[in-house]
Amino acid sequence: MVLWIAGAGGVGREALDVALAAGVEVAGFLDDRQAGSTVRGLPVRTPAELPPGAGYLVGIADPAARARLAGLLDAAGGHPVTLAHPRAIIAPETELAPGCLVMGGAHVSSSVRLGPHSQVHYNATVGHDTRLGARVTVYPGANVSGAVRLEDDSTVGSGAVVLQGRTVGRAAFVGAAATVTRDVPPGTTVVGTPARPLPRRAPAP
Ligand SMILES: CC(C)(COP(=O)(O)OP(=O)(O)OC[C@H]1O[C@@H](n2cnc3c(N)ncnc32)[C@H](O)[C@@H]1OP(=O)(O)O)[C@@H](O)C(=O)NCCC(=O)NCCS
Repeated sequence: MVLWIAGAGGVGREALDVALAAGVEVAGFLDDRQAGSTVRGLPVRTPAELPPGAGYLVGIADPAARARLAGLLDAAGGHPVTLAHPRAIIAPETELAPGCLVMGGAHVSSSVRLGPHSQVHYNATVGHDTRLGARVTVYPGANVSGAVRLEDDSTVGSGAVVLQGRTVGRAAFVGAAATVTRDVPPGTTVVGTPARPLPRRAPAP
């Protein structure tokens, strides 16, 4: 299998590292902003140049950009590929939907489900029976406990903890090092221990 990685930024290059460790051949990157250049010795093309039928993985942190690119590449006849680092632990009976990325040192426990295009970054843990929706991101070193629900497009920041059974709503963002003790409403950014909504300053008059 030859893979194209959509996004030649930080997560894209981390995805390349996962592919190399897993013995997956990478043809190049797809990235409008860097098209025509080379990154890590590989060609960068525009997403429109994905060869029909090719495998792709979106290596971008932002869920909205991930959704846009995945839609575009699916429409171009690409198929999403899941990559896991050989030093990630993925328990039996855990299901990874197409397009997921699991980095080195991550531990995804028993009976977990990862929705399409979700990412578990290095040294993060995801507890038993937890459900990740589509395009969820668990950043490095975060600890998501058992039976948690991370809804579509939600993000758990570096080093954050989500207590067992809690729900992080659609497109919500848990700040770095926060401790989630209550459900997080959709679209809300929470920070701190215990996690509380980030106060937004009023726009200047
Ligand atoms: C929560 C977060 C999304 C907020 O980002 P933002 O909207 O740009 O917020 P700002 O940086 O403008 O900070 C706003 C306020 O919140 C505070 N704040 C920001 N992030 C915080 C956090 N994680 N914990 C506690 N307070 C935080 C800031 O100190 C600031 O407070 P102040 O107004 O009293 O100075 C971001 O700070 C964060 O934690 N992102 C996760 C990053 C991460 O894990 N990246 C992994 C990449 S590998």
